[in-house]
Amino acid sequence: MRLEGKTALITGAARGIGLAFAKAYVDEGATVALADINEDAVQAAAKSIGPKAVAIQMDVTRQDSIDAGFNKAISAMGKLDILINNAALFTAAPIAEIARADYDRVFAVNTAGTFFCTQAAARHMIERGEGGKIINMASQAGRRGESLVAVYCATKAAVISFTQSAGLNLIKHGINVNAIAPGVVDGEHWDVVDAHFAKYEGRKPGEKKRIVGESVPIGRMASPSDLIGTAIFLATKEADYIVAQTFGVDGGNWLA
Ligand SMILES: NC(=O)c1ccc[n+]([C@@H]2O[C@H](COP(=O)([O-])OP(=O)(O)OC[C@H]3O[C@@H](n4cnc5c(N)ncnc54)[C@H](O)[C@@H]3O)[C@@H](O)[C@H]2O)c1
Repeated sequence: MRLEGKTALITGAARGIGLAFAKAYVDEGATVALADINEDAVQAAAKSIGPKAVAIQMDVTRQDSIDAGFNKAISAMGKLDILINNAALFTAAPIAEIARADYDRVFAVNTAGTFFCTQAAARHMIERGEGGKIINMASQAGRRGESLVAVYCATKAAVISFTQSAGLNLIKHGINVNAIAPGVVDGEHWDVVDAHFAKYEGRKPGEKKRIVGESVPIGRMASPSDLIGTAIFLATKEADYIVAQTFGVDGGNWLA
């Protein structure tokens, strides 16, 4: 049990990677607050894990919702040791067609959400004086631009940059900030990605997902379980000396 006695808040944990992380953390002995904008889904997700999972309805784009969500999680669990900034939206379109509202919405969740949830966790961790771990979900999309994915790529590049600045600023408080950059991970998120490419590249439903999966050097898409080991490791004492890094867990897709 590598996370015995630890408490974590995971944003966007009602499904996909966030839910897989929540389950894995509980299996390792942690108590976990699953925070998501989708109240019914997050209640069901927490229930599926059991009594060591707390459901929190939280919109990471709203400061009042972040404040209330962190307060609720900290009073339910007694403290907060670990934050995973996982909530995100995807969008894709040619530059000439990107709507201002879409840009604002995706930056609000992926970038501002990560920033202000980090701030809320850091304030609690600094006041408590026992350090902490903050893990940001970046992406291979944050390592380089993609023709149709300008907005999402930029949000994830910002997450990588912010991980560096926050990592450097918070390590003096014993708070390690690092990030995971997945490649392509199977799940509902990819239904959204595939639909965007079907629209803009004239592909059949499922075609982009198949091609992208086959082109990963390891030969397949990831499943959320492929990311669990890194998410646990970064939350343990063994990762105390790791500061401001982004770890590719992508089957070989991106090389530094
Ligand atoms: N799936 C992939 O291929 C892939 C690849 C690289 C990086 N990532 C990143 O990993 C993370 C998890 O991805 P996933 O595939 O599980 O995504 P997902 O779309 O399946 O889940 C995202 C969750 O975030 C929640 N959410 C959306 N807006 C929110 C808001 N305003 N406040 C709170 N919650 C909100 C959704 O309700 C959903 O439960 C994301 O940061 C994503 O960008 C995913």
